Amino acid sequence: MGKRYHLTTFGCQMNEHDSERMKGMLESLGYSEAADRGDADLILFNTCSIREKADDRFIAHLREANALKRRAPNTVIGVGGCWAQSVKDEVFQRFPFVDVAFGPGQVHRLAEFLTSDSLTAQGYFEFEGFTGDLPAKRAREFQGWLQISVGCNCVCSYCIVPSTRGREVSRDPETLVAEVRRLAADGVSEVTLLGQNVNSYGRDLPGERRLSFSDLLRRVDAVPGIRRIRYTSPHPKDMREDVILAHAELGALCEHIHLPLQSGSSPVLKRMRRTYTRERYLDRVALIREHLPDCALTTDIIVGFPGETEEDFRRTLEVAEEVGYDGAFTFLYSPRRGTEAAELDGQVPHELKVERLEQLVEVIQRRAAERAQRFVGRTLEVLVEGPSRTDPTRLRGRTRHNKVVNFDGLGTPGEYVPVTITGATSQTLTGEMSLLARAAG
Ligand code: SAH
Ligand code: SF4
Ligand code: F3S
Repeated sequence: MGKRYHLTTFGCQMNEHDSERMKGMLESLGYSEAADRGDADLILFNTCSIREKADDRFIAHLREANALKRRAPNTVIGVGGCWAQSVKDEVFQRFPFVDVAFGPGQVHRLAEFLTSDSLTAQGYFEFEGFTGDLPAKRAREFQGWLQISVGCNCVCSYCIVPSTRGREVSRDPETLVAEVRRLAADGVSEVTLLGQNVNSYGRDLPGERRLSFSDLLRRVDAVPGIRRIRYTSPHPKDMREDVILAHAELGALCEHIHLPLQSGSSPVLKRMRRTYTRERYLDRVALIREHLPDCALTTDIIVGFPGETEEDFRRTLEVAEEVGYDGAFTFLYSPRRGTEAAELDGQVPHELKVERLEQLVEVIQRRAAERAQRFVGRTLEVLVEGPSRTDPTRLRGRTRHNKVVNFDGLGTPGEYVPVTITGATSQTLTGEMSLLARAAG
């Protein structure tokens, strides 16, 4: 029987995408996927280090893998991704049972390691190449990721990513458009463009090949078969009118913008090195609302950044109240090794962070529930993803605004169906498939 692998993925969409590439690569080497870790010859982890909790979760899994290896000593244990990059060769001292470790830029080296007869532990931590150039095994047939750049040139003082993913490098536009064409030919109708700062795309490309992010969106929109385009994340400092206007102009570009706020207080933003102020952020929101009144807006917010006062926090609550996000990811600030903010004075006690988070979540959810009422009574295009998680007799899908909808109706995953929305909470919509609209077209 051929060799089997088991892969556990932590972290963001970037990692999900890298994992699809790892799977594609392993299958091209003749490996097949094992349902259980205990049945695998190769136990792999694609790790994240964005917050301390991410580290802790992963270490528990790694210990379990070690226990399995003690029973089956030929098992190979591999650790890839951002955590691996952040500790580098130290991984072999701390966890001597690990056979191979590699950073996010070194996924292709995994194949090299597996096909060599190397018996010693190997680590690969250069920044080079794009996982996007490797074959992929997609989790869903109809949805695809497109890695448009790697790395990040920002220096947000709390963030570990610049040190784990390196400097920003954009992929060539022709390569990207060709990849979208291939995805479309392969049945993908929804594509998500990925980068740490997508709207700075292209600035590092040589003159004759340079393309702005909005022009890249235009090129992707023109590919036949692509019905929905999403992207994550844009940085507020680079959110210009051309990208906002592209939403109004391009048929496939979805009515959703994820615009990370991080804090509503300008002095905190300054210490975070976000390079925009509260006013400039709100100005971007006003521009979005002016051109795209119905567009969903979501965000990321960190509470308890070092030195955050009650007044600073109140400013964040105010922005959340004023903007009225359709949804938000909220985080407790977590000091990360090697980052500037971890060394700052005024670290906020854990209990206070938790208290502030609760207050913030209350505002976010209340405003999101209010915002969601605008969908009730409307018939929206829903991309069917599968059965509802709470009630398997119903279906679950997503609107162009990126809202999850649980609904009664018929449809197979990957199909676009019209759904009349009958109810809305802060998180999800409910509805009924509109048969008339379907019959009409
Ligand atoms: N490049 C993306 C997101 C990167 S990480 C962007 O800039 O938008 C995703 C989110 O994790 C960030 O937006 C931030 O809100 C949060 N985050 C990053 N580092 C963190 C830390 N040290 N503690 C708490 N949250 C953090
Ligand atoms: Fe981290 Fe800031 Fe870069 Fe996002 S933009 S990845 S938060 S450094
Ligand atoms: Fe993503 Fe986590 Fe790395 S959020 S970029 S996998 S540190």
